[in-house]
Formats: sequence, C-alpha cells, structure tokens
Amino acid sequence: MKITVIGCGYLGATHAASMAELGHEVLGVEVDPTKLASLQAGTTPFYEPGLDELLGKHVTAGGLRFTDSIEEAGAFADLHFVCVGTPQLGSSLGADTSYVETAVRSLAPHLTRPAYVVGKSTVPVGTAARMAGLLSELSPVGGDAELVWNPEFLREGFAVKDTLEPDRIVLGVASERAEQALREFYAPMASAGTPFVVTDYATAELVKVSANAFLATKISFINAVGEVCDAAGADVVALADAIGHDARIGRRFLNAGIGFGGGCLPKDIRAFVHRAGELGVEDAMSFLRQVDDINQRQRQRVTAIVKAMVGGSVAGVRVGVWGAAFKPDSDDVRDSPALDIAGRLHLRGAHVSVYDPKAALTAAARFPTLVYTDSAVDAARGADVLLHLTEWPEFRTVSPDEVGSVMAHRRLLDGRNLLDLPSWRAAGFEARGLGRA
Ligand code: UDX
Repeated sequence: MKITVIGCGYLGATHAASMAELGHEVLGVEVDPTKLASLQAGTTPFYEPGLDELLGKHVTAGGLRFTDSIEEAGAFADLHFVCVGTPQLGSSLGADTSYVETAVRSLAPHLTRPAYVVGKSTVPVGTAARMAGLLSELSPVGGDAELVWNPEFLREGFAVKDTLEPDRIVLGVASERAEQALREFYAPMASAGTPFVVTDYATAELVKVSANAFLATKISFINAVGEVCDAAGADVVALADAIGHDARIGRRFLNAGIGFGGGCLPKDIRAFVHRAGELGVEDAMSFLRQVDDINQRQRQRVTAIVKAMVGGSVAGVRVGVWGAAFKPDSDDVRDSPALDIAGRLHLRGAHVSVYDPKAALTAAARFPTLVYTDSAVDAARGADVLLHLTEWPEFRTVSPDEVGSVMAHRRLLDGRNLLDLPSWRAAGFEARGLGRA
C-alpha cells in the first residue's frame, strides 16, 4: 500500500522505515530542514540501533522518500500516519497538541479522495474526537476523510523490533470500514499472531497514557521501597527478584535506581493528571503526582549520597559520570536523570567529566559546561567519586582495577544497581548502590 508518515522524529522515522520494510511504499513528511536533509540522504538524525541501516536500505531502493510538502503527501496516498510530537506545554503540565492539530489542518484540504488519517502520537483523551471533527470539516470529501487512533508503544533502543513485532495493535475507530482498512494494512502482524484491540477513540487514547502511567508507577514503587531498604539495611535488588517471581507482579520494570526519564514517561504522567483535572476527576489521578515526586527525589538522593561520600560538600570535588542518555542504546537526553544529576553536581561546584558512548553531542548541546570525554576510563581520571548513571553494557566490562588506578579516590555509586559491587570492593572501592545494604 502507499502511505505517508507525517512527522519523522523517533516515532515517525521508525514507522516509515519499518513500513517500507514490510513492502509498503512510504512518503515521509518532515518540516525541519536539517532533519529532512539527513532523512533524504538515507541517515537518521538520531541514534537508534538498526534504524540507520533500514532507512538507508529503503531510501536507496526507492520505497521510502521524504518531503516537506503536505500537498504532495495528500496526493501520494490514502492512508496517512500522524507521528508528530506532543511535548509538555510551557504554561502547564498538559501536553501540547498543536503539532497534531497543525498536521490535520494542513493535510485535510489536500484529501480529495476518501482517505484515512491515523494518529499515532500520544495525546490527551478527547483529542482524537476533536481531530475527527476538524478532518471532516476541512477536507473536500467531508466524512470520507476518516480518523483512526492507533497508539504506538515502541521503546527507544528497541524501536525497530517493537514496530515490526508489536505485542498488541490498538485501533480506536468510528466505523467498521476504518477497522477493516487498518486490519488489511496490518495483515502481516495479524498473521504473526499479534493481538488486536479494536475500540473507540477515547479508550485507544487512554490505553497509551495508562500503559505509560503504569510503567512509571512500577518504577517509582520500587524506588520508594529502595529508600526504605536504605534506611532499614535491606537490599532492593534481592527484594525485586523475590516479588518479581510472583507472576501477578513480574520482575520487569522493577529495577531500582535513579529513576525514569526520556521524552515519554515524565511528560505523559503529567499530561494525564492535567487532563484528568480538566475532566473533573483530578483526585483519581493525583497519585501520579507522587509517582513524579518519587522519581524526582531519586535525583536529589544521589546528590545527597555523593555529598556524604566525599565528606559534606561537592564544591571543588572531581566527579566522573558514566552515562548521559536517559537509557542505554539511545542518544536521547530529554529529561535524562543521568544528565540532570551531572548538571546538579556541576552547579554545586563539582568538576564533572561525563562519558556516554552515543549521547555526548546531544548532552553537550543541552549542557555545554560539563566536560565530555572519549572513554569510560577518561571520565574517571582524577575523580574523587565515580557515578554509574546510564547502564550501557560496556560499563559492566571495565576493570575496577584499571578505573581505580586513574582515580584520586576509589569511590563508586552505582545509580543503576547493575555493577558487581563485591568485585569493585575487592579492588579497594567504597562502592554502593541505591537501596542496597
Ligand atoms: C516508554 C514506554 O516503555 C514505551 O512503551 C512508550 O511507547 C514510550 O515510553 P521509552 O521512553 O523508550 O519507552 O523507555 P523505557 O524503556 O520505558 O524506559 C523509561 C525510563 O525508565 C528510562 O529512563 C529507564 O532507565 C527507566 N527505567 C526502566 C527504570 O528506571 N527502571 C526500570 O526497571 C525500567
């Protein structure tokens, strides 16, 4: 089928390349000239494992093209995916849906044949119904330009796999005709056994924010328990293993540490609380404020622990930091707890050297006054304390002795609870995790 993908950031570029991989003819629409030039040259303007190869392959083969013309998009296909961002508003905790609205408003007048516009962006409940109204009002074919809401659950670092092998497909539809069209489009997933949940717009929108809110709650729950473990001399990792054996709880997303960040979880839970307030049910969602508070507190906790480890003040102290991205296998530093902690220590007078295998450039653009090094060992050189903040696999292969030999003092704080603390202690380190006895 011929499709367009409007907005080619993390979500859109991945969707465009993955749908080309499934054999569809894809036209991506991107208005940022720098991103557009990169995509047209067959390279992704960000780091996502496997995506560059996939995108390059299909741009070269001709099955995937990019443009900045929405008019061209309207003429090209009858199935249009909207993948633009919905960042937090500057004026409130709500989500900014203006990019979604702009996409629909600019595309609609060019829909001169019956078409489906499929929203994939994460939006406050009620947005899809509003967009459906706009679409039929502004399109020359009226109600024959139909809206579908199809939230996306991909994780950065696994974006291609999550798009090609989703664990469910959710369709919010207003007609059987729309359901059939999307089922046909996603037929390869149906043949692979992917479950489909077909529902109304509001439920589809809420599925996405509820999933992210649940994941955020799970992480903050274990981090809150981790604080109690610290106070009581218990070990949160053993505790998570033990409760995770209960199939009703599950071990995934119970990794205690410096907390969650990125372009989704933090802003999605805030937008959820905000929208609940607009709907008059803020109390129902107020616990998410605590989930957010617990998450933010982990960052203060690390600063406080570092202070205590170095004897009271971080002013003039040299701190080595491993990791700047909000998670491994990504160069995304949006709301990254790692970069936030590095920045906080720097603002309190510490000399901070950061190493991240992929995120040095994005981190430097956001926080240019930190020192960025080219290796894990270089970040630790001369340091009074070393912080492990993003769990890139390479950090687990570095020899504690080698790192210790370049540091001024052998002190380690594992903010992700993934390093083998006994072997660091055996190398003479004062080594601690978060919530670990
Ligand atoms: C998330 C959702 O998982 C995905 O379904 C949705 O489409 C977009 O938002 P993503 O932001 O890529 O995906 O990252 P995710 O893997 O969910 O991790 C989010 C944050 O939580 C990261 O900062 C990660 O380090 C942290 N995390 C995750 C923990 O602190 N502990 C855990 O146990 C798991």
